[in-house]
Amino acid sequence: MQNLNTASMRVRDGRLWILDQQTLPQRQNWCATDTAADLIDHIRTLRVRGAPLIGLSASLLLALLAESGMARPQLAQSLAALGAARPTAVNLMNNLARMRLALEQEAYAAAMAAEALRLVEEDRSLCAAIAGHGAALVRPGSRLLTHCNTGGLATAGIGTALGVISVAAAQGKVQKVWVDETRPLLQGARLTAWELGEQAIPYTLICDAMAAGLMARREVDAVWVGADRIAANGDVANKIGTYSLAVLARFHDIPFYVAAPHTTHDPACPDGDTIPIEQRAASEVTGVAGSFGSCQWAPQNADVYNPAFDVTPAALISAWVLDTGVVTPGQAQAGIFRRPLAR
Ligand code: MRU
Repeated sequence: MQNLNTASMRVRDGRLWILDQQTLPQRQNWCATDTAADLIDHIRTLRVRGAPLIGLSASLLLALLAESGMARPQLAQSLAALGAARPTAVNLMNNLARMRLALEQEAYAAAMAAEALRLVEEDRSLCAAIAGHGAALVRPGSRLLTHCNTGGLATAGIGTALGVISVAAAQGKVQKVWVDETRPLLQGARLTAWELGEQAIPYTLICDAMAAGLMARREVDAVWVGADRIAANGDVANKIGTYSLAVLARFHDIPFYVAAPHTTHDPACPDGDTIPIEQRAASEVTGVAGSFGSCQWAPQNADVYNPAFDVTPAALISAWVLDTGVVTPGQAQAGIFRRPLAR
């Protein structure tokens, strides 16, 4: 496969490297990723994270394994194992469904390489299309609040919600971005703050609990978030804390936008209750661990609830901004998400 570069993935001479999103922004550490077990570990520990990136990295790795001579049964096993790496983001399953079709072809190594590269290229244009549609919704002088990390690190392109913000900022419409730190794993504080800083977009980092007070003081003009899965009724699973923001936005009469590629849509899930939600280790809540060191602050045996995502009901969403266009609440109610989205 040809060499390729995204913000957080590289293919070099037949080998996949990923940028460790655990150690960012303190250290830019590129990890070689040679086996499905390596990548599954990177995905579960969030060195590789973000719905689109999970699916793309798995597809690239499978293509590289095929090119290195791995036989079809072992590739099928690796594909199945990668598909179970994290349960919520449906991009992984959607991308792997395409890789499975490539694997069924006679010249499967070439087919898988071509398909993985196509997925990366497509993701770049999906991000650009989302950003174009979304930026048109941003009013001049906006103070936008975002949650988690939905930027170039999480995709092959400019990102989803953060891509919208980048393009709107380039159009001179963004006064500032409020960045939720995003407890418990701080994707906002570590990754979004870093990406915005790199792009010289003005931002202010806040604890998640501060959003309510800011909204009450009329200091937020719109909320932009990404998605891990969009169900057939328009309900959206996204990083834990997204639902609270949607409730707050509705109470304060602030638009709440979800930006995502069509690869995040799952018409097979009737509603948010049927989206599988990943539960994570207690240690992520009882303390912190990262490139800065580790510390535990809760009692040793504290009982912990740690879902990685929550579900925002469709009724709280002002618009779904997709590569295919902007979906309104009326279109969602009429059932646009019940079928695959027209591209
Ligand atoms: O647990 P994470 O960091 O993978 O969660 C990521 C999110 O919730 C993002 O909002 C979503 O995947 C979209 S990334 C473009």
